[in-house]
Amino acid sequence: MKEYRILPDCEMQEQKEYIEKVRAYNENLVLESGSKRYAFVQTFGCQQNEADSEKIAGMCQAMGYEICHEPALADIIMVNTCAVREHAEKRALSIIGQYKHLKAAKPDMLIGVCGCMVTQEHRKDTIKHSYPYVDFVLGTSSLHRLPQLIFDKMKKGKRLYCPEEKEYLVAEGLPIYRESSYRAWVSIMYGCNNFCTYCIVPYVRGRERSRRPEDIIAEVRDLVEKGYKDITLLGQNVNSYGKDAKGGEIYDFADLLSDIDKIEGDYYIRFMTSHPKDASKKLIDVIASSKHIAHQFHLPMQSGSDKVLKEMNRHYDRAKYLDTVDYMREKIPDITISSDIIVGFPGESEEDFCGTIEMLERVRFDMTYSFIYSPRKDTPAAAMECQIPDDIKGERFNRLLEVQNAIALEKNKPLEGKIIKVLCDGPSKNDESVYSGRTEGNKIVLFDGNESDIGKFVSLKITRAETFALYGEKI
Ligand code: SAH
Ligand code: SF4
Ligand code: F3S
Repeated sequence: MKEYRILPDCEMQEQKEYIEKVRAYNENLVLESGSKRYAFVQTFGCQQNEADSEKIAGMCQAMGYEICHEPALADIIMVNTCAVREHAEKRALSIIGQYKHLKAAKPDMLIGVCGCMVTQEHRKDTIKHSYPYVDFVLGTSSLHRLPQLIFDKMKKGKRLYCPEEKEYLVAEGLPIYRESSYRAWVSIMYGCNNFCTYCIVPYVRGRERSRRPEDIIAEVRDLVEKGYKDITLLGQNVNSYGKDAKGGEIYDFADLLSDIDKIEGDYYIRFMTSHPKDASKKLIDVIASSKHIAHQFHLPMQSGSDKVLKEMNRHYDRAKYLDTVDYMREKIPDITISSDIIVGFPGESEEDFCGTIEMLERVRFDMTYSFIYSPRKDTPAAAMECQIPDDIKGERFNRLLEVQNAIALEKNKPLEGKIIKVLCDGPSKNDESVYSGRTEGNKIVLFDGNESDIGKFVSLKITRAETFALYGEKI
């Protein structure tokens, strides 16, 4: 029998008891006041945080709170933070600062801060000293302890700082409040062991631990039966899935995908993120022969310079990266490939940067997410010499965007006149007069939709292609 690192049932049972206690407390308050109790969850950061927030909201709902999207209405606000770049921390701190006034107007409101930013000791201190109206803080390893923390806060009244768990484990069976009825996140593993030298994630998310395959498959099956159409499997490096489990033969990510693909239904499976050092041919073969796995691959390259990749501790070079991309395109010709790029990593010379531009031109990504390097406290890169000045970082960033935007447009143009299947999300956020949806490759399409299309696949003829969006009409 393979052994996975799962939190013992008795500990989960304990939290369920706290959920019941808080629920009873809230029910009493509702009876006394005649008004409902509301929870608002605010999320910063990546999809992993989005998925965690759905668990926070799920626990809040089980504790008798209605989920709302209006902080002023809330009886409890949870801010789920990110620490990946300085900007993310600044935004979270600024929002927490704004909640001071809400709390002053409604002193019984609880404010909790959780997530990656406050898993760092120095940020716990920031909250402790500069945000005295925050009621409690909990890091990523103790998310499942939220019910206990709320109960203790309600009973004891004093500020609480939940200690990090000594051992990183997987908490199974937490309730989930899903924001969408047709797109879903499914975490398949937590943590990261890679320690890329620029990255804070391994420090704030702990070591890799995989969920049991049977739990993941049961969750996906349930989602498909409920009508979910687009399911994204999440992990910091999904290609390491299963490698932390002890005993027995390795059941890896490709095995998991191939078992999930057997579930009958009309749906797409996606996954992120895949580390190029571990993206195997076996995995690509499974996608090529699958029924449900979207022909889309997010493969963060980070840099196109072998010297910088080495300094980043990425364990692949340009040749290996190109080899993987070439194999993908050979086996899955219609695949959409996207990437993450960092500009201005310490010591990045003009020549290194030109190496990145050269790789963009060689690979021709459909889209990239580009970031200016942001030093993160206590990571090796932050202590490296030759930090790049902000003006050079900014200038390189703009050059990179210019090259990539031209490529994205060239990649989109051939789609004009094609008939494409799109999952409709509803009115576009930028222009409510048109509907927005996403293709199998995750590209945005704007079209003449209506309410009955939401959450359904629609067939569109692409009439115009631009850099960031396609335009289509129903056929
Ligand atoms: N686990 C994923 C990504 C996690 S963070 C992976 O390995 O690809 C998402 C992206 O943020 C990274 O791919 C990287 O491009 C960017 N990033 C991480 N740390 C950063 C930093 N210190 N400065 C700028 N960008 C960073
Ligand atoms: Fe960060 Fe690297 Fe882990 Fe991704 S693989 S989370 S970039 S350390
Ligand atoms: Fe941010 Fe944590 Fe994700 S640092 S990017 S929310 S894993």
